[in-house]
Amino acid sequence: MYLFQTSAEPMTMFCSLLSLLVCLSPAALLSDVTAAWEGHAQDYKHGRPYEELSNSLPCSWKCLTFTLQWPAGFCQSLDNISLCKIPPSVNTWLIHGLWPMKALRCCSCWPIFLSDIQEVQEFLEEQWPSLIKSRSNFHFWKEEWEKHGVCAACVEGLNSPLQYFQTCLKLRQHFDLQKVLEDGGIRPSCERPYKLSEVLNVLVPLIGDKCEIQCVTDDQEREVWFQVKIRLSRNMTVGCAHHDYNLGTTPISKGHPCPSEGSFYFFPIDHLRPLQPCE
Ligand SMILES: *[C@@H]1O[C@H](CO)[C@@H](O)[C@H](O)[C@H]1NC(C)=O
Ligand SMILES: *[C@@H]1O[C@H](CO)[C@@H](O)[C@H](O)[C@H]1NC(C)=O
Repeated sequence: MYLFQTSAEPMTMFCSLLSLLVCLSPAALLSDVTAAWEGHAQDYKHGRPYEELSNSLPCSWKCLTFTLQWPAGFCQSLDNISLCKIPPSVNTWLIHGLWPMKALRCCSCWPIFLSDIQEVQEFLEEQWPSLIKSRSNFHFWKEEWEKHGVCAACVEGLNSPLQYFQTCLKLRQHFDLQKVLEDGGIRPSCERPYKLSEVLNVLVPLIGDKCEIQCVTDDQEREVWFQVKIRLSRNMTVGCAHHDYNLGTTPISKGHPCPSEGSFYFFPIDHLRPLQPCE
């Protein structure tokens, strides 16, 4: 069995990528990785072999940031909030991206087409939609691939557009923030603000203590939760031991770490009034 399946639908994989890694012994892991590489050597249909590109691309990164965003908060993060939309089907945390750290903008050297990721398109539309009116879903995915994905492509399981997006979907399935928050009694509310310590108590067992809980300040000067950054090692386990680590900034938004003193809001999603869920 290949460690990273290239064709199975991600949603039907019961053993997530992470639990798969964790439940394998090192010897089994190694032989599976070797088998997977042998498979890829004969199969270029999912992308170009990395060696073709490696002269021009940095693969010195050690840590990844997997970023999930909360739609109601994301709308508050845009400079021009009239640009925000929340599709009716969106009711939960969404993928923002998977970013190798310290690799800044990668390159457009590995073109991506919708047909490359067609087999996961349906899942991406649900879990990784664009919330910016003027930006199509594919535009968003393409941008994430060119900015971050190409630099990630030197690692097993991320070495083509399809594998990169499939892995992100598996990570999103594994990091089910909605469920742990719900179970921990942290629900969207216009009235009840939360303390950082309350949120961390619930999330840290799943996402590790090197995470970042990000807020924006809305037009009424309230702190509003909009994003979670999860730190991963190259092998996709939670945490990353390297010191040169930084969670990276999101150029399009004005996010910052949620205040450790005081509290912040976890706004409900309002599809009709995405910008004013609490007015
Ligand atoms: C994943 O990588 C980290 C850091 O390099 C290492 O400590 C850990 O043992 C690895 N885990 C697995 C399951 O390979
Ligand atoms: C915000 O976006 C809307 C819609 O594109 C545009 O009409 C408006 O001029 C923009 N406002 C600012 C301040 O940029």
